[in-house]
Amino acid sequence: MRALVTSSPGGWPNTKLSDIELRPGQPEQVLIKVRAVGLNPADNYQIEGRYPGGPRPPFIAGRDAFGVVVQGDAKGIWKPGDEVVVLQSSTTNLEHGTLCDQQWIAAENLARKPAGWSDAEAAAAPLVYQTAWKALVDIGGLQPGQPVVITGASGGVGLAAVQLARAYGATVVALSRSTEKQQRLLELGAHFVFSPEAPHLKEQIFEALKVKGVSLVVETVGGPLLSSALHLLGIHGRVSVLGVLAGVECNISIPALMFKRASIHGVLVTDDSPAKAQAAWKRIVELLNSSQVRPIIDDRFSLEDVPAAFEKLRGNVFGKVVVQIA
Ligand SMILES: NC(=O)c1ccc[n+]([C@@H]2O[C@H](COP(=O)([O-])OP(=O)(O)OC[C@H]3O[C@@H](n4cnc5c(N)ncnc54)[C@H](OP(=O)(O)O)[C@@H]3O)[C@@H](O)[C@H]2O)c1
Repeated sequence: MRALVTSSPGGWPNTKLSDIELRPGQPEQVLIKVRAVGLNPADNYQIEGRYPGGPRPPFIAGRDAFGVVVQGDAKGIWKPGDEVVVLQSSTTNLEHGTLCDQQWIAAENLARKPAGWSDAEAAAAPLVYQTAWKALVDIGGLQPGQPVVITGASGGVGLAAVQLARAYGATVVALSRSTEKQQRLLELGAHFVFSPEAPHLKEQIFEALKVKGVSLVVETVGGPLLSSALHLLGIHGRVSVLGVLAGVECNISIPALMFKRASIHGVLVTDDSPAKAQAAWKRIVELLNSSQVRPIIDDRFSLEDVPAAFEKLRGNVFGKVVVQIA
């Protein structure tokens, strides 16, 4: 099989597309021919050895995938020819990832490809929509009609959160540094758009929403933006924190936290049991289909061009970067 293998001691200089032997599968696993892989920043953090609790070399990075079943599991849940996507759950295997042309995946972490979706859309979706769902609904407690502020709204998780929140009936405030991306976010359903760097961001958002604080911020960027997010909250507001693109530390105003009785809650997509992940995915697909919304693909690359694909992901994205495998 062909796979992007990160060998010891790790990092990009020791990450190469290689021909390796397919490892033996287990009865509860399904062999899939991988057709497309949605890239996520975490894949890059793993390769660079910056992912807490990440795999030790040698490993194959990659979490999302669309594929076709080649050999089903012993219980017969999945059969050859089934078109599937890989979900994230507490049993996700970080060592044997999806950046390869075939892989054994636990049957409990597979779901049927949503009808009518392209290979790239299917591959791009699960990790970011599962994360957005947790941040908005499971942890964020979002209710229809409520406002939600979404940072990094043009990225993979941010766009997923914008689409899901809009479909859920929330009032969506999307933050992006680019005026061009702000325009696209409005076209995709955001009610209001702002730059996170606007000098009077809080006042502008409160004026637009006619409120004195919001109940939920989905914070995908990290660094100083987390401390700004806290100041957007109303009494008993919450920040769902999930990203570190702008830094892994920030200063928090303890009085703001205290006087707002606010909470900052970490989100981890692999927190859920496979059964809970399956239930969430079912609701996500129903919501997306009923509002006729699909994942947004920014660019496509081949398996040979994975380094360029990650370069694209580190740069200026709007939606997802996908690797297609011939
Ligand atoms: N906790 C979890 O389970 C989980 C799951 C998925 C992802 N994540 C993390 O969440 C983060 C976002 O992931 P993603 O897939 O959405 O990333 P992405 O697709 O690369 O997009 C992130 C967006 O954030 C904005 N951004 C990037 N750097 C920024 C900076 N320095 N300051 C302000 N905005 C910045 C950009 O928007 P503009 O250019 O429009 O401003 C970009 O489009 C990553 O750190 C990822 O590892 C965590």
